[in-house]
Amino acid sequence: METKTDWLAYDTEEIVNADKDCLWHHLKPHKLFEKQEQMVVVEGKGLMVKDIRGKEYLDATSGGVWSVMVGYGRDSIADAVCAQMKKMPYFAGVFGTVPAIKFAQKLLEKLPRLDKVYFSNSGSEANEKAYKIIRQASRISPERKGKYKIMYRDRDYHGTTIGAMSSTGQAQRKQDFGPFVEGFVEFPHAACYRCPYDKTYGDCSIECARKVEDIILKEGPDTIGGLTVEPITAGGGILKPVKEYYPILQEICRKYNIWLIMDEVVCGFGRTGKFWGHEHFDVDPDIITMAKGLASSYEALSATVVKQEIYDLFLNDPADPDARLNYFRDISTYGGCTAPMTAALESTRIIEEENLVENSKVVGAYLLEKLEELRRYDVVGDVRGQGLFCGVEFVLDRTNKEPVTEAQMAALMGNVLAQGVIAGRTNSSFHGLNNVMNFAPSLIITKEQVDTVVSAVAGAIEKTFQ
Ligand SMILES: Cc1ncc(COP(=O)(O)O)c(C=O)c1O
Repeated sequence: METKTDWLAYDTEEIVNADKDCLWHHLKPHKLFEKQEQMVVVEGKGLMVKDIRGKEYLDATSGGVWSVMVGYGRDSIADAVCAQMKKMPYFAGVFGTVPAIKFAQKLLEKLPRLDKVYFSNSGSEANEKAYKIIRQASRISPERKGKYKIMYRDRDYHGTTIGAMSSTGQAQRKQDFGPFVEGFVEFPHAACYRCPYDKTYGDCSIECARKVEDIILKEGPDTIGGLTVEPITAGGGILKPVKEYYPILQEICRKYNIWLIMDEVVCGFGRTGKFWGHEHFDVDPDIITMAKGLASSYEALSATVVKQEIYDLFLNDPADPDARLNYFRDISTYGGCTAPMTAALESTRIIEEENLVENSKVVGAYLLEKLEELRRYDVVGDVRGQGLFCGVEFVLDRTNKEPVTEAQMAALMGNVLAQGVIAGRTNSSFHGLNNVMNFAPSLIITKEQVDTVVSAVAGAIEKTFQ
């Protein structure tokens, strides 16, 4: 007789103790586990999550890392996944599956200037695939011979694997993990609030973009194959470049036959009030990587999407006359799971049907307006954002922009949480500069819920600094 286990059942004290004994949490100082019980989340509906002790929170982070776009508790995603799993749960990406084909079609409908979709499981991997495409192209394409290096910005994050981390600029995130992979070249960020060239917008020549050419020339244009950026820098502090920035960067890339990669892992799927983050700019990326919001994180899925001309380079490898190796030589076991594609199809349907990109734009503008009001507190140095993706930078001195201390920032975050709101922050990314609180709620958030979030932040500022 078949026995059934109810995996949803649990004993609270046993789970809390087992959390301490067995589970290695991400991004948390280990000492914390000894001192205090960690939150165990057990239920979610809409924007609300409940912890194992029964306390409810309004989650302004879409699951901690900005990815649950359609909110919690969407039965239709669970139902679609269940039906697909029963019919065909898996086959490796060497064959097609119906949901993979349908979702690839959907992505290309959303990206009319791109042509081929390669699936994997995480943002890091989607970026690794992009780098591998560039490296392999630098060996098999006569016009791209030797162009294997990849440039990245010093405040951007592209992932946790050693390759993706080699292309990540955040010094504190990278600390202790070197040596990194050869062939990655850093260039300065494009954030006006802490301009790397000490300029003021309106009174500058967009040096942040133009000076990238100097770095390319110094490094050797014939060695550089790709340049990767987040359209709007996420974990690096919610940094949106000025409108002139990407057109200039793209022109430089085209001049030297460098592929422009847009890492849409965070910005994609409506986060910034347009379907893609790069749509805020006049720019036409050659490769786009994405993850997080694809399936609203109900399932793990990522993709690397390229232009036809890139795909076509792999059709003919002149060094391989037998044509045995004329394909992108990569494989990913879980790139063939069908449940994530199904979850992605249903999540994207919800985003479209419920007009959630428009909600991100409208309620995002309201969120920014309300956060702007926090400038009444001296510790608020800057407020910035686009759509439902906003940040507040905290400083001790507005004139010299000295950041608040790590301890103050931790206390501030604790005081927001104590009021029943989960907000995010730059977390161990930059020495001394982890001072940005960020907000990226699910795209279903209402103006009333925004008011709840902002009033919790105001209360926390008063408790922490006054
Ligand atoms: C912009 C960006 N790219 C890539 C990644 C890596 O994605 P993953 O954690 O799914 O590997 C992240 C993760 O936060 C990210 O923010």
